[in-house]
Amino acid sequence: MKPTGISIVAMGAGLALSSCATVPPPSAGLADADLASAGAIADQFQQRLSLQLITALREGGPVAGIEVCAEQAPAIAAALSQETGSEVRRISLAPRNPAAMPEAYLQGPLRDLQARPLDEEGRPRMVGWIEGRGADARQLTLRSVVMLDQPCGVCHGKDIAPDVQAAIDRHYPADVATGFSAGELRGAILVARNVASSH
Ligand code: HEC
Repeated sequence: MKPTGISIVAMGAGLALSSCATVPPPSAGLADADLASAGAIADQFQQRLSLQLITALREGGPVAGIEVCAEQAPAIAAALSQETGSEVRRISLAPRNPAAMPEAYLQGPLRDLQARPLDEEGRPRMVGWIEGRGADARQLTLRSVVMLDQPCGVCHGKDIAPDVQAAIDRHYPADVATGFSAGELRGAILVARNVASSH
């Protein structure tokens, strides 16, 4: 499928006060229900991965955490894609996994999130838009994944322990996903589906 350009990119934060706490702020171009269902898929991704990550960190420390992330993050994305019929994956402007490198048409919206990762209520911001036309039209959403001091700093921060760095280098020789500070955009969860199959 060939993207033909972004027709609408919108930021929802201006209207955030009118939406209820669990529903993401509306983005022009996508219905609230479509944003909410993409947001629920992003929640699922985060919940499943953080359960695995926290358990691995507790039981085996950061090096075990890297092994688990390397295996589980792509597996959870694949499982959710299959369960939901949407394409689900993580992307980043400074990726660890080279597969997280955003295609050109995702870079503008990702930079938009990077400039302002949180909405006015302090929640990860979401942008949504329609890409392509007719039978090729796809509905895309990105939701911010924001850097925290803990536990993220251990593997993405400015001061990485030598054994952790060695494990990163072993799995991801091209890694550029360190040096982040709390509050910065670490990446985003992409949820994409064909418009025709989304209703
Ligand atoms: C134990 C080390 C570790 C910790 C702690 C950790 N990560 Fe990661 N992170 C990784 C690894 C390894 C990958 C690559 C996973 C893959 O291959 O998909 C990754 C990938 C990512 C990605 C996908 C984009 C990319 O660069 O490949 C995001 C977004 C991300 N991490 C955010 C976070 C956030 C936010 C936190 C804190 C809540 C966090 N990570 C904590 C190791 C870690």
